[in-house]
Amino acid sequence: MELNPVELFYEEMGEGFPVVLLHGFPLDHTIWQPVARILAGQARVILPDLRGYGQSPDGNENHTMRLLVEDVLLLLDRLNIERAVLVGHSMGGYVSLTFAHAYPNRLAGLGLVATQANPDTPEKRQARLRTARDVRSKGIDLIAHGMPTKLTQNQELQAQLQERFRKVHAQSVIRSLKGMAERQDATPWLDQIHVPTLVIAGGRDQFIPLEKSREMVEMLNKGWLIEIPDAGHLPMLEAPEQVADGIAQLIAAVADN
Ligand code: MLT
Repeated sequence: MELNPVELFYEEMGEGFPVVLLHGFPLDHTIWQPVARILAGQARVILPDLRGYGQSPDGNENHTMRLLVEDVLLLLDRLNIERAVLVGHSMGGYVSLTFAHAYPNRLAGLGLVATQANPDTPEKRQARLRTARDVRSKGIDLIAHGMPTKLTQNQELQAQLQERFRKVHAQSVIRSLKGMAERQDATPWLDQIHVPTLVIAGGRDQFIPLEKSREMVEMLNKGWLIEIPDAGHLPMLEAPEQVADGIAQLIAAVADN
C-alpha cells in the first residue's frame, strides 16, 4: 500500500545534535516544551505535531504507525537531518519503535517514554474500536471528560488537559484509535536496536504498568530505565527536570557510541 506522508508542523529550539520529541495521543508538541526548554542549551530540539494534531494537517487515512513514521522521515528529509535521536511518548513511542525498525540508519539514539512494545490485546483492541465509534456518535467531549484523570493525578494538569482535548478533532482521534488498534508487535524488534535506548516510566502510570517497562529494558541491547515513582502517564509534564536529565544522558551516550 502506498504511504502518503504529510508535512508536519514543528517547533525548533537550540543548536547541536538533532533530537526529535514525539507526543502521544491525543496531545500535541506543546507537551514537550518544558523539557525542550531545558535541553535547548545542548541540542537542536525538534517538536513536531503528529498528523491531525496541533497545527499539522491530517491526511485521509487511519493513523497507522507505519504511516506516522513516513511523516517523521519526511520531516527529517525536509530538515536535511541524516540521523537523529528520536524520543517518543506513548503513541509517539509506538511510532519511534516502528521508525527504529523501518529506518535504523536514520536513528542515532532512542527514547521510549511511558510506552510499550506490545500490541493491543484483543480486548484492548475491541475497547479502542468501541471508543472510536463512541467518539463518532457522541463527539470529543467523551475524551475530554474521560481521559485526563487517567493520565495524571495532578489536578491542575487534568483541568488543562480537559480544555486542550476539547479542541482536538474527533476525526483525528478516531483515525489514531484505529491506527493504534492495528499496530504490530514491536517486541521482536527490540534486540535489533543497536543504538543507546532510554526508557522512562512513571510509577503511577495507569496505561503502562511499570513491570512492562522493566521487561522491555531487559530486551534492549543498550537500554537503561529511569523510573519516576510519582509520575503518571505524562512524566514530561509531571517531572520535566528528570525527563530532561534522562534525555541529556541519552545525548551523551549517543556521543560516546
Ligand atoms: C498515548 O498516551 O499515546 C495513548 O494513551 C497510548 C495508548 O492508548 O496505547
